[in-house]
Amino acid sequence: MSKDKEKSRIEQLRNLLHHHNYQYYVLAQPEISDFEYDQLLKELIELEDNNPDLFDPNSPSQRVGNDINEEFNQVKHKYPMLSLGNTYSKEEVGEFESRIKKSLPDTDIEYVCELKYDGVAIGLTYKDGLLTQAVTRGDGVQGDDVTNNVKTIKSIPLKLKSESYPDEFEIRGEILYPHDGFERLNKDREANGEPLFANPRNAASGTLKMKKSSVVAKRPLDCFLYFVLGETLPFKSHYENLTAAKSWGFKVPEHIKKCNSVDEIFDFINYWDTERQNLPFDIDGVVIKVNSHKQQKDLGFTAKSPRWAISYKFQAEQAKTKLLSIDYQVGRTGAITPVANLEPVLLAGTTVKRASLHNSDQIELLDIRINDFVYVEKGGEIIPKIVGIDKDLRTAQSKAVDYIIKCPECNTELIRVEGEAKHYCPNDTGCPPQIKGRIEHFISRRAMNIGAAEATVETLVDKGLIHDIGDLYFLTKEDLLSLERFAEKSASNLIDSIQKSTEVPFPRVLYALGIRFVGETVAKTIAVELKSLEKIQQASIDQLTEIHEIGERIASSVVAFFNNEINLKVIDKLKISGIQLEIQEDELQVENKLEGKTFVISGTFEKYSRDELKELITKFGGKNTGSISAKTNYLLAGENIGPSKLDKVKKLNIPIISEEDFIQMIE
Ligand code: IVH
Repeated sequence: MSKDKEKSRIEQLRNLLHHHNYQYYVLAQPEISDFEYDQLLKELIELEDNNPDLFDPNSPSQRVGNDINEEFNQVKHKYPMLSLGNTYSKEEVGEFESRIKKSLPDTDIEYVCELKYDGVAIGLTYKDGLLTQAVTRGDGVQGDDVTNNVKTIKSIPLKLKSESYPDEFEIRGEILYPHDGFERLNKDREANGEPLFANPRNAASGTLKMKKSSVVAKRPLDCFLYFVLGETLPFKSHYENLTAAKSWGFKVPEHIKKCNSVDEIFDFINYWDTERQNLPFDIDGVVIKVNSHKQQKDLGFTAKSPRWAISYKFQAEQAKTKLLSIDYQVGRTGAITPVANLEPVLLAGTTVKRASLHNSDQIELLDIRINDFVYVEKGGEIIPKIVGIDKDLRTAQSKAVDYIIKCPECNTELIRVEGEAKHYCPNDTGCPPQIKGRIEHFISRRAMNIGAAEATVETLVDKGLIHDIGDLYFLTKEDLLSLERFAEKSASNLIDSIQKSTEVPFPRVLYALGIRFVGETVAKTIAVELKSLEKIQQASIDQLTEIHEIGERIASSVVAFFNNEINLKVIDKLKISGIQLEIQEDELQVENKLEGKTFVISGTFEKYSRDELKELITKFGGKNTGSISAKTNYLLAGENIGPSKLDKVKKLNIPIISEEDFIQMIE
């Protein structure tokens, strides 16, 4: 083929593939078979390989991603990416409407109701019909440039159809992980011993932040667009611009409705509150927007969100099913968690077979018996929880739960510490999950930051290559290569990563040891005060309790740790491993980024537990209190935060920050 011919064939193929991509992923109306599509793509890739000068970043071939390890650049949003105020009742939606009527008296107001997609927000910029940039929400002011990963999402057009689009505009939407793909993903991860994603939203956000776009390309992410921004939009209203965007090739949701009253809005809400069960992706509410741009402008914004839009959040979905049996899991610290095995039931789009029961008190409190019908609900955690039972369905087959008295892993008699809800296996140095758990804790990111998956630790322990954390430092590349999991490169990487951990500062090393009650903050306090492992090892309970904020409980735990023969043997190994066992001068200052700031924490969070957040606040010199007052500086708000708390902070004009905002504050 001549150069000219190749050029025109490339163009033709690109257009064909853009078209078939749209038919398949946006309209779900394929016109050719997958095989034919793959043939066209293959031909295009070959021609492009022969003609590198004709490279086009928006070619359909770019959707397969690449293997380059990408760092994400921070990009400032042209228009800040705000969040929405939440409502939880018809009254609150009514109040939203009254506020608007009061601000805009004697005018008719048209509302647009949409689904509130539970995924990851994204802003896409198009110039001359081509996708030029995709940025995550970040802190609302700036986010991560994830363009290369987003290009692999097939329902996002790389090149727009028709000619009526503005020269430059931004369109925002939500990237979702559909239910069927999510179930498959977690199944694969389970089989590979990788940690599971708690919900499709986390899977979407984890995928979007992956470093290799070729891996993202293999995941079935989808994207719905719900907001167009720009200086030269074709219409002066939201709904009409969205409809236009549909004709440019975007996947704009079908489930969108214009409403003129709170009653109509509520019909939409009620319909979707039940109908959401049948959607192939998660939604967590409905968004209500004022349609007219002029009215939007007149209403304006508060510091965090527009006054012209609000979200209505659904209550968590529940399902009822039969409790078949209870398993007992032994955690890294020896804590026992009862886990219910359930008759499989569909809940919020995914099949649930197991649910957490927390501890024996909860089983007693809810009077849960085997063969009872229980209600399960999804929280922020991986496995849903049992929130109650249907006593009316109890039959003679229901059997009281015989809570275990011995560790299911090592048969040691369990203990229960005064004031704590959980039972523990006290055999911390001989109980297999505790041994593995300790190693996992030791290598975790905030501790020694050694890059090994849970499954790797499992194999290393099972094959007898390591028995404790000290053994890590004596592993050789040959040891690793003797295992199926490892090849030359992965073995070198792990050895390098172990070597690199010898630079981790002493406070983190102390935390990494996994001494009970010694979290990051306590480890830092003790390390700063006593300065070396040697000194800590020699310290008495009295010496330890003299340290500010170290009480009897922590001190006894530290002393007990260093009196344990098995721990001493591990420490002997660590002493010759080369890791940092003394604090360096420059680590002596404590961080005080949050000094003078008072926080109230409410709701459930994605990355940290509430206790961890409290610890971080203290660690950085801030204060954490239980109730909101005029002295509160920030409400750190997660999911499912109660309406009364929100009302109170709004009245007092206290800024609401998300977990993400908080992390930014301390980074
Ligand atoms: S509009 C200024 N519409 O909810 C209005 N947002 O708390 C901007 N979301 O960050 C948002 N579905 O990630 C809008 N139909 C929808 C939405 C939606 C989900 C998310 C979005 C936003 C958050 C607001």
